[in-house]
Amino acid sequence: MLVRLIYASRSTTPITSELVKQILDAAHQHNPERGITGVLCYGDGVFVQALEGGRTEVNALYQAICRDSRHRDVTLLTYAEVDQREFACWSMAQAPLDKKNAALLLRHSSSPVLDPFRLSGQTTSRLLSELGSSGGLRSKG
Ligand SMILES: Cc1cc2nc3c(=O)[nH]c(=O)nc-3n(C[C@H](O)[C@H](O)[C@H](O)COP(=O)(O)O)c2cc1C
Repeated sequence: MLVRLIYASRSTTPITSELVKQILDAAHQHNPERGITGVLCYGDGVFVQALEGGRTEVNALYQAICRDSRHRDVTLLTYAEVDQREFACWSMAQAPLDKKNAALLLRHSSSPVLDPFRLSGQTTSRLLSELGSSGGLRSKG
């Protein structure tokens, strides 16, 4: 059974390329063996991550991520059983919400600043999907 979980959190320190690299290195090391795919989106001190895979594996990873002191206010946005993956090609894609993706953000939100704590889970989910289909994702930074 496949599930997709999307959460938002606030970084406890400014989100530097070094911090993103550390997180993605862990993801690329662990996610393939656990059959996890997804995307990590970040900007303005906020993370949004989609995790896809088996229910047991996704739940275990989410619990580990919740305990990570590099972020706080970890908030579950959506959790659903799904027929197929949206990010099947990425053990963890990355999507900086910079100028390049600002137009996409504006399509879904009243502000060009990413604030998933104010958007509905459904809107955030659509935003991540469109990042995937519009070529806004990178595999490694
Ligand atoms: C925003 C965020 C996203 C993360 N995403 C993942 C992930 O997709 N996969 C993963 O294994 N660890 C992820 N981590 C790291 C885990 O919380 C944990 O530190 C890591 O899995 C432990 O790996 P290690 O035992 O190699 O140190 C993430 C951490 C943060 C703060």
